[in-house]
Amino acid sequence: EIGRDRQARDEVFELSENAVAVLKKRYLKKNEAGEAIEEPIDMFRRVASNIAEGEFRFREGEEAKRLYEGSKEKFLRMMLSRKFMPNSPTLMNAGRELQQLSACFVLPVEDSIDGIYDTLKHQAVIHKSGGGTGFGFSRLRPKNDLVKSTMGVSSGPVSFMAVFDASTEHIKQGGTRRGANMGILRVDHPDIEEFIECKRENDKVNNFNISVAITDAFMEAVEGDTDFDLVNPRDGEVMRTVRARDLFEKIVAGAWLNGEPGVVFIDRINGDNPTPQFPIESTNPCSEAHLPPYDSCNLGSINLERFFVEGERPGEGTVDWDELRETIHTAVRFLDNVIEMNSYPLAEIDEMSRGNRRIGLGVMGFADVLIKLGITYDSEEGLAFAEKMMKFVDDEAWEASRSLAEERGVMPHFEGSRHEARGDRVRNATVTTIAPTGTISIIAGCSGGIEPLFAVAFMRRQADMELPDVNPEFVRLAKARGFYSEDLMKKVAEHGSVRDIPEVPEDVRSTWVTSHDISSEWHVKMQASFQKHTSMGISKTINLPNDATTQDVEDAYRQAFATGCKGIAVYRDGSRDAQVLSTGKTR
Ligand code: CDP
Repeated sequence: EIGRDRQARDEVFELSENAVAVLKKRYLKKNEAGEAIEEPIDMFRRVASNIAEGEFRFREGEEAKRLYEGSKEKFLRMMLSRKFMPNSPTLMNAGRELQQLSACFVLPVEDSIDGIYDTLKHQAVIHKSGGGTGFGFSRLRPKNDLVKSTMGVSSGPVSFMAVFDASTEHIKQGGTRRGANMGILRVDHPDIEEFIECKRENDKVNNFNISVAITDAFMEAVEGDTDFDLVNPRDGEVMRTVRARDLFEKIVAGAWLNGEPGVVFIDRINGDNPTPQFPIESTNPCSEAHLPPYDSCNLGSINLERFFVEGERPGEGTVDWDELRETIHTAVRFLDNVIEMNSYPLAEIDEMSRGNRRIGLGVMGFADVLIKLGITYDSEEGLAFAEKMMKFVDDEAWEASRSLAEERGVMPHFEGSRHEARGDRVRNATVTTIAPTGTISIIAGCSGGIEPLFAVAFMRRQADMELPDVNPEFVRLAKARGFYSEDLMKKVAEHGSVRDIPEVPEDVRSTWVTSHDISSEWHVKMQASFQKHTSMGISKTINLPNDATTQDVEDAYRQAFATGCKGIAVYRDGSRDAQVLSTGKTR
């Protein structure tokens, strides 16, 4: 029965109006007049056959043809059924002239004018092709330090970051999206205070997210309330000593003000770096991918909602684990093929990416599946389910990487890797990461990444009218359970949340939770649960109410460190000028 239902469901190809609008605007092939010359289904066919061509890199003749046909069919099904979506650049560029398929890159910033301006050029090339870039600025000598060749003084990391920011402003990513950057500075760099404050005004360095790379030594100094040395990266000289807690307070104050800076726990990231021969200094813009200089990462996400199977009676639904396993294996093969088919913007990136073969398989639709299963996001049961789910995805992804290693060989940078040390013959340095899925979750029609719902309903301005836009699944449920009324839907839209609406049945109120209903402590707990079984990082917004205090932010940062997270970024409601989405309540 389940098998037949599944097959019937897989054969339906449905996209929401929003999804079609997004695809038309930026993803579909266009002619010179700017008109779309492919339908969404053609785009998925283009991507499936292009990525399946990767099979010809490893086999020849009839065998290769057979593998190609098999992969093409599986890749297409997995996308049409919205069970899996690759990151945006793959959807946009596979099988087209650009053929640049990765979302994330990290570039080195050397302490020399030549190095800095080479990287500036490389940033432009990557942005033009639709990728985002991360930079570690920690190797740059501090402001006012000596420049030998001219006997002048250096202007420091923050001023060079402004150069990268200005350049971004002028290069639209692939003519499709604006460039996104991550700027990272180590907490022991002498210019750290200037860095922490460089985004205080909301109109500065707008094309960058910034994060402080926090070391274990720094966290110890904060715990022990001791002094902490700021060191010149050029020669190791201690330039200043500060009270660790004062510096920590500055970081927290910035995060409270407008979410910047975030932090990454750099020693922990390097401690888990599967390729220690290439140390990590930075992450990609949304900080889920931890990459050494010149590495890239191809992301793809599984839509968990599609693996829910209804039970006989309401509340008896389950997850189709067999189907999920099969999809994970196909997705890993897809992403390993992406590495092969990718046309990299630089020779150095080509070498590093093919050598490490980092892939980032993640999940989306997590909130949707929790609701269907009747599990509350901010509950012990929610955390346990998250851990079980991610462990399954990660274990199976490694299993898939091992069988690819048997078929195609281990990753070229296997020697010197942690995998070699463990005797684990894998084809990919990393397999899992949780991306924000900002656009691909709209295409797949599911909740983003591992975030809770943003709102059950919100007021949408349309043709000069304010109309309630209600989650269609909620409408269906309300009708089935007999509590639907237009007035109630309007009330829900004005509130955004249903937790405090007595007309909604108790059990519905407890599962239909939104990010604003959830305390920052539970947001961090959920992030930590996913991190346990993820090779790289987690993109997660830690929401705080507008009236949260700096102490609340500090607690969240400490909790993230204590519970094994790789980094954290908070967002206090209403703390940035332009809030992209907003519930009726906050406007
Ligand atoms: O959903 P989609 O594949 O478009 O992307 P995402 O999951 O929201 O973001 C994944 C990564 O793509 C980010 O961490 C950035 O590295 C990159 N990105 C970017 O460079 N520019 C954007 N406007 C959005 C994402």
